Amino acid sequence: MSATTRKTAPLPDDIRAMKGTAAPIVSLTAYTTPMARLMDGICDFVLVGDSVGMVLHGLSSTLGVTMEMMELHGQAVARGLTRSMLVIDMPFGSYEEGPAQAFRNASRLMRTTGAAAVKLEGGAHMAETIAFLTARGVPVMAHIGLTPQSINTLGGYKVQGRGAAGDALLADAHALADAGAFALVLEKVPASLADRITADIGIPTIGIGASAGCDGQVLVVDDMLGLFTAFKPKFVKRYATLGEDAEAAIHAYAEEVRARRFPAPEHVFADEAPAS
Ligand code: KIV
Repeated sequence: MSATTRKTAPLPDDIRAMKGTAAPIVSLTAYTTPMARLMDGICDFVLVGDSVGMVLHGLSSTLGVTMEMMELHGQAVARGLTRSMLVIDMPFGSYEEGPAQAFRNASRLMRTTGAAAVKLEGGAHMAETIAFLTARGVPVMAHIGLTPQSINTLGGYKVQGRGAAGDALLADAHALADAGAFALVLEKVPASLADRITADIGIPTIGIGASAGCDGQVLVVDDMLGLFTAFKPKFVKRYATLGEDAEAAIHAYAEEVRARRFPAPEHVFADEAPAS
């Protein structure tokens, strides 16, 4: 079904069923109600990414993002969605200890936000946790390649899986699919590797800095809207320049306030209410 004609939000199984169909899966991140409303029904799923920490809170990485932040933004996004599925990131430290911790926090995120699924980062070592969660009613979207929560062990935001390392990522992808993940985010990996993984596994791949051959794509919404003026990763295409537009508008407002041209007569109120 084309996302532009969606009447109701898909479920994780519907997203899984889009694997290999003619309709690539469309997704963006969102962190607020108004942004969620703009993409509702256009995106197949909307991701409340832990990128919220860097995008909205000015953190230098996603490591400082808390369960409370994810809940607050998850609830805000949920209020804006009726026709796109809501997926929420599990923040750093909320699932890595083991299946029981992961279930406790995943179920909390789903209960308090209404998300249909959680996303967590990591390769084959997360397979046991994913199997535990899916067996207990928590659909899981997995995430490999550049996994920003592991930035301190990956040694920076560089491309992952080049050369021989590609085989390890392919093995991770199989382990996660076999464990029951319903979809797999591939971040910042060579296009040929993304294509290989996409062809090889039975669940949809969602690319970000991966390949047009993935089963779907996701971008950070503020990146694709050009809200950041000083930062543009290679894999981001800017579909708008809202950051520049906002800066120009703020300058224009400041100039008019200083020149006492704003507010103009049409923006102020008379003593008497106008006759209706
Ligand atoms: O946190 C996030 O926004 C993400 C996506 C970019 C995949 O994980």
